[in-house]
Amino acid sequence: MRLKDKISLVTGSAGNIGACTAMRFSEEGATVILSDINKEGCKKTLQEIEDKGSRVDMIPADLTREYDIVKLFSQVREKYGRLDILANIAGGDYEPMVDLDEVSDEKMSYNIAVNLKSCIFCCREVAKIMKDQQYGKIINMASIAVKGNLGQLSYSAAKGGVSSFTRTLALTLGMYNINVNAIAPGLIEVDVIKNAIGPEMWKALKEDQEASHPLGRIGQPIDVANCAVFLASDEASFITGQLIEVTGGSRL
Ligand SMILES: NC(=O)c1ccc[n+]([C@@H]2O[C@H](COP(=O)([O-])OP(=O)(O)OC[C@H]3O[C@@H](n4cnc5c(N)ncnc54)[C@H](O)[C@@H]3O)[C@@H](O)[C@H]2O)c1
Repeated sequence: MRLKDKISLVTGSAGNIGACTAMRFSEEGATVILSDINKEGCKKTLQEIEDKGSRVDMIPADLTREYDIVKLFSQVREKYGRLDILANIAGGDYEPMVDLDEVSDEKMSYNIAVNLKSCIFCCREVAKIMKDQQYGKIINMASIAVKGNLGQLSYSAAKGGVSSFTRTLALTLGMYNINVNAIAPGLIEVDVIKNAIGPEMWKALKEDQEASHPLGRIGQPIDVANCAVFLASDEASFITGQLIEVTGGSRL
């Protein structure tokens, strides 16, 4: 068990990648605190982890609200007294496939709030706890869109911010024995994308992408979750400030 007795918090844990990461953390022996704006989805993840006999808790929050974030981390500190691992997974593209002329203040601002500002505020709050304990592993969620992706204008900008912020935060927190890394997944098979484009377009997209992946397949949530487990473990204690691509070799 690589995360035995660790206390972890996974945001976006109602979603496919977040739920899978939370499950993997618990399988590796961590207590998992789930957080998401989607309470029902969070409850489902909680039930699945509880059914396996692992320690799990949930504190729903809207991470676009600074107040919710401050409250989330103060509740964690009050209840558990420490937090060893933070996986900032909440996010997504809320302005996809939009022409440059149609980029709007409202949707761009939401993409920046949910992907970048939430990550920065969660890191600010968790650092207060992790500095006191002189230990911590922070895993942020970027995207391969940081290299540029057609149709993802404001999302790629927000995730680029996550990537740069991760490096600067690693420089800032290294002296406190806190590792900060980010994951940049390529296309991962998740319900939110499949539901958005429908089964026919999904089939075509998947086949097209598989052909351009050296490993001949697109990613699954478990591929990202396993990388998060490694970064959360002490096996990764000399790795910080890195953006780890989980892409099956696409976009090399
Ligand atoms: N699926 C992919 O191909 C892919 C690729 C690269 C990066 N990512 C990133 O991985 C992360 C997880 O995405 P996913 O594919 O599992 O999608 P998902 O939609 O299943 O998960 C995202 C979760 O974030 C939650 N969330 C959204 N707004 C929130 C808010 N304001 N407060 C709290 N929670 C909120 C959602 O409720 C959802 O449960 C995201 O950051 C996404 O940008 C995904």
